[in-house]
Amino acid sequence: MLKEVIATRYITPLREGGSLPGLVEADDLGTYVLKFTGAGQGRKTLVAEVVCGELARRLGLRMPRLVTVDLDPVLGLGEPEQQVQELLRASGGTNLGMDFLSGALGFDPLAFTVSPEEAGRILWFDALINNVDRSWRNPNLLMSHGDLWLIDHGATMIWHHNWPGADASAARPYDASDHALARFRPDLAGAAAELAPRVTEDLLAEVTAEVPDVWLADEPGFDTPDDLRHAYARVLLARAADVHTRVTGIEEGK
Ligand SMILES: Nc1ncnc2c1ncn2[C@@H]1O[C@H](COP(=O)(O)OP(=O)(O)OP(=O)(O)O)[C@@H](O)[C@H]1O
Ligand SMILES: [Mg+2]
Repeated sequence: MLKEVIATRYITPLREGGSLPGLVEADDLGTYVLKFTGAGQGRKTLVAEVVCGELARRLGLRMPRLVTVDLDPVLGLGEPEQQVQELLRASGGTNLGMDFLSGALGFDPLAFTVSPEEAGRILWFDALINNVDRSWRNPNLLMSHGDLWLIDHGATMIWHHNWPGADASAARPYDASDHALARFRPDLAGAAAELAPRVTEDLLAEVTAEVPDVWLADEPGFDTPDDLRHAYARVLLARAADVHTRVTGIEEGK
């Protein structure tokens, strides 16, 4: 289970995010980027954030710590902006929080350099989770103290929007031509050799166990949250074996 904290203060909305994530302070005195359960994108976005974020960290990629944030909708009562007020009101209960990297800069592929090894690992991971949200237009990568950090895995695993067609969807190629790290000659084969064997059934069971039951309940076709956890794990396990052979649109490096 992810650590649970309680939101004590809503600080400000993060304007860049399409889903209007906010900054909150919590009872452990931490500052978190909050992704709201009541946001238009729905709770599957939060499931994807947890599954992919926790997997990334276990594969050695830098990913800020995730927590669940319990939110009392009364926190929104004093908010002057109606949009924020409505979001807070619709998000009582369990939300997702991410450690706020204070002072981090958005990654700019023209301003920073990334090694072929690191670019390969991140690109391989994005192919695995079918991340369509790491383009040079919107990299969802942060630079903090000279290190690259991954954020924002809400738009991944497209197959979880249509489970009956999941296997066919997961077998499709991954087009990396717009990927933020495509220009760094990513060593995809090296990354696959290093990371694919680490994506095991045990690791995926550990990762999917971190997703709160409330975000997994009542999915059509699944009797229990654990059944749905297995479905997430099964697709990723199958994909890990050979997804690197289905990446298109990049020139590989070594
Ligand atoms: N952990 C973090 N530390 C510092 N800044 C962050 C963090 N997470 C997000 N941000 C900032 O907030 C912005 C929005 O976050 P994020 O991309 O996760 O939201 P989103 O609504 O899913 O965005 P998108 O518009 O890409 O769909 C980021 O681009 C980044 O500038
Ligand atoms: Mg984003």
